[in-house]
Amino acid sequence: MAAQNRILVLNGPNLNMLGEREPEIYGRTTLSEIEAECRKAAARLGQELDFRQSNVEGELVAWIQGARSSAAGIVINAAAFTHTSVAILDALKLVTGPVIELHISNPFNREPFRRRSYVTPVAAGLICGFGAHGYVLALEGMAQMLKERTGR
Ligand code: DQA
Repeated sequence: MAAQNRILVLNGPNLNMLGEREPEIYGRTTLSEIEAECRKAAARLGQELDFRQSNVEGELVAWIQGARSSAAGIVINAAAFTHTSVAILDALKLVTGPVIELHISNPFNREPFRRRSYVTPVAAGLICGFGAHGYVLALEGMAQMLKERTGR
């Protein structure tokens, strides 16, 4: 049984470079700063937070599989794997709790290849285009979804 109040936030490739990486698109907030904001938001929402980043597709797949027993829901910014990874899609299909797809930028107003997402088919919700603050919005959305599911 998945831990009822734990949300897994997964970050894909190159998100460890936030702050330095194309700041005109992704802003200047670093991933550690985002994690700190997420920790505050999770505490306010009465949720436990498991916040992770990997540049390795297989590691993300393993974490998604592990979340089946350890997390109530997943917020995922799969970064470039969003547009390429059938493996991440297949892993997410195993998850019973809600999945929220997250992007810092708005992939729909960028290059055409960013409009295809392998996460969207399994996503209960999608947040994009709000910059780093999208992480807090996604946690708020997830907390609400979990509340509605458990009736608490
Ligand atoms: C991203 C958008 C993706 O297209 C891109 O490959 C990323 C980050 C975002 O958060 O805006 O690495 O997921």
